[in-house]
Amino acid sequence: MSSLAARMGDLARERGHLAAAGINPFGVCMDEVTTATEAVIGGRPTILVGTNNYLGLSFAPRAIEAAVEATRRSGTGTTGSRVANGTYAIHQRLERRIADLYERPEALVFSTGYMANLAVLSTVAKPGDTILLDADSHSCIYDGCRLSGATMVRFRHNDVEDLEKRIRRLPKDRTGDLVIVVEGIYSMLGDRAPLAEIVEVKKRHGATLIVDEAHSLGVFGAKGRGLSEEAGVLDEVDFLVATFSKSVGTIGGFCVSNEAGLDLLRYTSRPYVFTASLPPPVVAAAIESIDMMEKGTHLRARLWGNVEHLHRGLTGLGLEILAAESPILAVRMPSEQALLACWMGLLEQGIYVNLALPPATPQGVYLLRCSVCAEHTREQLERVIHAFSEVTGRG
Ligand SMILES: Cc1ncc(COP(=O)(O)O)c(C=O)c1O
Repeated sequence: MSSLAARMGDLARERGHLAAAGINPFGVCMDEVTTATEAVIGGRPTILVGTNNYLGLSFAPRAIEAAVEATRRSGTGTTGSRVANGTYAIHQRLERRIADLYERPEALVFSTGYMANLAVLSTVAKPGDTILLDADSHSCIYDGCRLSGATMVRFRHNDVEDLEKRIRRLPKDRTGDLVIVVEGIYSMLGDRAPLAEIVEVKKRHGATLIVDEAHSLGVFGAKGRGLSEEAGVLDEVDFLVATFSKSVGTIGGFCVSNEAGLDLLRYTSRPYVFTASLPPPVVAAAIESIDMMEKGTHLRARLWGNVEHLHRGLTGLGLEILAAESPILAVRMPSEQALLACWMGLLEQGIYVNLALPPATPQGVYLLRCSVCAEHTREQLERVIHAFSEVTGRG
């Protein structure tokens, strides 16, 4: 048997229990997505509570109009890398917009947030350096660290003492640089990084700090710039990475930095050089959405009101939510069996949430991961709470 066939066999066994239960949570198809919070799934109108579309901007009329107009003017794709034929004036306009938002000299836009992390980590760190990364980091952070060739040292999730301890334990004759990488909000549990304390550690040890604001962009800070803005440490973050695929409602990634020479990544970074640039409609939509995000105090107010409402409703049923710090509300289930039954039950009631189970979850927990949107109506949230009460037999 080939090694690929053997691996496929392993995967089939791992997922066999899901198939046996008639469930393929990783193959859900949206027949049609009609608004930021509604879709048709399996012929059934469904409320979306698992999309990361925190501000609901994927359907913002301004963004749609700009995307249509850009498509008419410049076509559906660039068919080339940024360093060849794939830099249009609109890419530079988007980078200027982001640089101005963060009051930095320059911003770099990538084709995804995944690429942005690969590019930044593999350029900032090199063999001989040490990267200290939070154990619950997203896979693209792990991949970026591996690509850098630096030594990787994981510290316990959100544990600043453990971070400090691991730095002190590094060999005394170490010559390379220290890089610390964390996220603003962690995607599975929705908990926040203790950024102010991490900044203290960074300063004490002369490290470079990279913060991935994928889930916190648009959600925190007066201008929606992320947890670094909210925590008042924006100036201490050496490289801030984020994605357009969540609050911005489209696709792409970016990096801003205080470091002179960020521009060098345009020539040295493989994930920037060796892939096609974002299509004009995506770039046009991102420009409009970033503008709405920056001025989106009302959107954030609606979002946080919705988070509070759903949190109160679900905890009122006696359900355990692992962190109440962000628009991600991760409802803990007691077992895999309960998780699968509830997830399926919710879908049958027209509610889509993310099903999350080991090994994708920290500490092996079983989660019904809800993500709240500014565009959810109170009536939709009431229907979500009611469906949870039905499938869990509570309330
Ligand atoms: C923390 C974090 N970083 C990066 C990414 C990747 O972003 P993108 O979807 O733009 O590739 C994700 C996506 O889920 C994420 O959760």
